[in-house]
Amino acid sequence: MERTPSKTWRIAVLTSGAGRGSNLQALYDYFKSHSLPLKIAFATASNKDAPVVQLCAKLSIPCYILSPKKDKDFEIRLLKLCQKEKIDLIALAGFMNLLSSSFLEEVKIPVLNIHPALLPKYGGKGMYGMRVHNAVFDSGDKVSGVTVHLVDSEYDNGPILAQLKVDISDCKNAEDIAAKVLELEHQIYAPTIYKFLSEH
Ligand code: GRF
Repeated sequence: MERTPSKTWRIAVLTSGAGRGSNLQALYDYFKSHSLPLKIAFATASNKDAPVVQLCAKLSIPCYILSPKKDKDFEIRLLKLCQKEKIDLIALAGFMNLLSSSFLEEVKIPVLNIHPALLPKYGGKGMYGMRVHNAVFDSGDKVSGVTVHLVDSEYDNGPILAQLKVDISDCKNAEDIAAKVLELEHQIYAPTIYKFLSEH
């Protein structure tokens, strides 16, 4: 699939079943408030009760229920959707599964992920959500942050595109760290996506 030479880049946002959808909301808000030529053409959630489903309804974004665990044709369906919707970039936002190297080759568009720590630290299989922030808190690190990276077929492994750091020396627990990092996530993802598309 070739990238669409259209003026408005079309993004697909992949989430899971449990995610709040706060990054999806932040992307939507940033693209809109900055009048950027970017549109969230669709999102996915892994079940119909996911909070993201309601959020998408509120924002008038089509949301497809696609479960990487339950749908054995998950990647085929996703590939077809991306082709039909002429998607230019896939943004993972709380998507918990690996995409296969054959999918990544076939879809021929960049796939980006946001991770709530400073990769390559605190990444990899099983490092998601509060597990990440608990590990950072237990380590005694004084700085944490957020990473946006290109996705390959290993967890949290592709080339890093952008990072933001935050002082966490005043954080009393992992929840305090999570709150600080989430603020950064909402600042970094949309401009990084825009910059990446503008430069490639
Ligand atoms: C974020 O912390 C993101 O870094 C991680 O999953 C979480 C999704 O949060 N990959 P939300 O659903 O966007 O609020």
